[in-house]
Parts: sequence; structure tokens; C-alpha cells
Amino acid sequence: MAHSNRDGFSSKFGVIAAAAGSAVGLGNIWRFPYVVGENGGGAFLLLYLFFIVLIGIPVMLSELMIGRKAQVNAFRAFPSLAPKAPFFKIVGIMGVAAAFLILSFYGVVAGWTVEYIWLAVTNQLAGQSNAELKVLFDTFSGSTIQPIFYLVVFMAMTAFIVRGGIQNGIEKYTKVLMPLLFVIIVVLCLRAVTLDGAMVGIEFLFKPDFSKITGDVILSALGQAFFSLSIGMGVIATYGSYISKKENLLNTAVSVSFADTLIAILSGVAIFPAVFAFGIEPGEGPGLVFVVLPQVFSQMMGGYVFAVAFFILLLIAALTSSVSLLEVVVAYFSEELKLERKKATVLAAVSITVLGVFCVVSPKLFDLFEWTSSNLLLPFGGLLIAIFVGWVLDKEVVRAELESHGKKVAIFKVIMLIVKYIAPVAVAIVLLQSLGVF
Ligand code: PHE
Repeated sequence: MAHSNRDGFSSKFGVIAAAAGSAVGLGNIWRFPYVVGENGGGAFLLLYLFFIVLIGIPVMLSELMIGRKAQVNAFRAFPSLAPKAPFFKIVGIMGVAAAFLILSFYGVVAGWTVEYIWLAVTNQLAGQSNAELKVLFDTFSGSTIQPIFYLVVFMAMTAFIVRGGIQNGIEKYTKVLMPLLFVIIVVLCLRAVTLDGAMVGIEFLFKPDFSKITGDVILSALGQAFFSLSIGMGVIATYGSYISKKENLLNTAVSVSFADTLIAILSGVAIFPAVFAFGIEPGEGPGLVFVVLPQVFSQMMGGYVFAVAFFILLLIAALTSSVSLLEVVVAYFSEELKLERKKATVLAAVSITVLGVFCVVSPKLFDLFEWTSSNLLLPFGGLLIAIFVGWVLDKEVVRAELESHGKKVAIFKVIMLIVKYIAPVAVAIVLLQSLGVF
């Protein structure tokens, strides 16, 4: 394949913005707070941070390295780098499966944000009590026609962007919109921490209560780390294939992970003070942000404008992630199954939407897809990626790729130690433990 005409990111910030665009999404603002709430707060956060540093960053670096070295999509990358280890093709296959599952429930939640844009614009959220907002959310998300309608709208938008080729669009928009989202979240945090009784929420988030740690909590923290960083399924490897050899991959992995984690923590800071100030259950579940944030907006100067802007930006953050998910499936359909790209896009989007319809009608299926993808498929994919870089690839090949920008990576040995031993063993222990092996 001719690599010279591969689309590429035009600037360093563009690379980080696009990878961060995939990483930062509903996972940070919708999923993180509710999973923290369900898993008891501070101790979960600590585990989460531990997994981000110890496993997340090294796996992200491994994926970037694989993609950039191979210069092809995530399925070809493994066999092309190691023709003698055909087994690793399975990472690509599992990635497609994960993309299917994730996007089908992700599209449903993104559809909720479209509904909330509408509610914010028509000023239907302002002045509602807690209980009213909860009923509003439950009634809406428990209905059928409206959520399906918004799911279809969202998937059509995703397909439209993917069909048009992604680099140009992705880079152009995320560069501007991500910083804007960041600003709004910071403003939300400022309002939340000045609410009466905010400290209880801050303590819940930051003060670890180690008695809350169970096997399930550990697995959820690991799953959330993988989900939030978009790792373990080839998305980041695919983006890696568009990055210039002049870039320092370690810097990229650290910056993206840092940005992703920062936004998740800020979302927690925006939400938990309000949760406790308004007397909401932290373990409320997937409706948490949709019930809590409208209340915070109501208590802000210019709340109307902030609410509208927030839900629009949340939708855009969801889009830059969903695009990366759909791209995995489209790349597979078009490059491996030799379908024409436009047909592949339509086929992938339609079949995922159908799966999403099942998630709308069955909350059980929604939960199952969410649980299986983040807590099983992504960590298992990450385990194989670490093994691939640590054991299958030649160490000097890995070094050359990580140092292709012309400078030595001082902590190369430490990275190899983690990728070879620590990350695979840690992930394996958590997975085996969750399967009840010990
Ligand atoms: N990381 C994205 C988010 O936080 C979701 C995602 C998971 C995207 C896996 C791609 C791959 O919203």
C-alpha cells in the first residue's frame, strides 16, 4: 500500500486534540461520575488513577507505537508487524466487536444529550425540582419512540462525518471545541463547589474509604480506565498510524491521558458537590448527570446559556468519540471485507443503530453491552497489546519507534518493564479475579 498518500495530522496539537477527542467523551462526563457514585467515591478514584498510570498510559503508548510503525489499520497492523504470530489478529476482531457493542449503547446516551439540548433550548429544565428532573429523565429514557428517534439522528451524524473522511474534519473541529468544553466544565466546577454543603461531595470524591474496595470495584476502575482512554481496541493504534515520525509518542500518550483524566475529575467536581447539596443518591446510575447538572444550571447566572452550550458541547464530545468507534468498523468492512467505503459506512451505521434500538427497549441489554465491552473486551485487548509489544516485537524495533523523533527516551527500560510484566500481570489478575478464579 502506498503510505505517502495517507492522510496525516498537520500539527502536534492536532494529533493530541484528535486522540483526546476520541478519549474525552461521554465516558468522562456521563460515565465517570456515575460509576464513581456507584462504587463508593474516593477509593474508586484512587484505583482509577493507579490504573491510568500503571496500565493506561503504557497500553496507549503501545497502541500508538504499533499503529505508527505499521502505518495501516488496526487489523493489518498486528500481522504486518509480526507475520509469524497470526494469533494477534484477534485483537482487531475483538476491537470490531467492542466497537459494535460500545457504539450501540453510546449512541443511545448521545441521543439523550440531543434531547437535553432541546429541553435546554426550550427552557424546560430551568426551575425544576430534583424529583421533577428525575421523573423527566426516567420517563424520557424509559420511553421508546423518542430515544430511538434521537439515536437515529446521532448515528446519522456520526456516519456523515465518517463517510466524509475523518482527519480533516476531526482535527479542525476538536481543536476549537475541546478547549471550549473545558472552559464550561471549569465554570460549572466553580459554581458547584460554592453551593451550600459542597464539601461533603468533595470529600466523597477525594477521601478514600478503603473498606469500599471489592473485586467489583477494582474491575470497574480498570474498565473505566480503558473505556475512558479509548484503549484496548485499536482506535488509538489507528490514530497512531496518522502521526508523523517526528512526534514523541510518549509525550502524546501522557498528554492525552492527562487531559482525559483531568476532564473526568473536573466532571466529578462539578457533580458530586451538587449531588450532596441537593440530596441526590450518588449511586443513582446512568441518569446522574442528566438529573444533577440541570439543577446546577438553574442556580447559575446565565444558566440558560450555559445549559444550552454545555449539552451542545457534550454532544460534540460524544461525536468525536463515536466517530473513532465507527471508523474501526468501517475500516474493517472496507479494507478487510473489500466493501466500498460509502457502503461500508451505511452498513455499519445501520446495523449498530439496530443494536442500539435493542438497548433502548431493554435496559438489561444496555447494561450487558456496557459491562462486557468495558470490563472484558477492552482490558483483554489491552492485555494482548501489552504482550505483543513486550514479548512479540523486537525490543530494538520498539525503541527505534519510540525514539524516532531523534531523542533518547530516558525511561525506556521502565516502560518495557511495565509493558512486559507489570501491565499484563495486573490486568490478568483483575480479569481472573472477576471471573471468580480466585
Ligand atoms: N473514550 C470514549 C469516551 O470516554 C469512549 C470510547 C471508548 C471511544 C472506546 C473509543 C473507544 O467517551
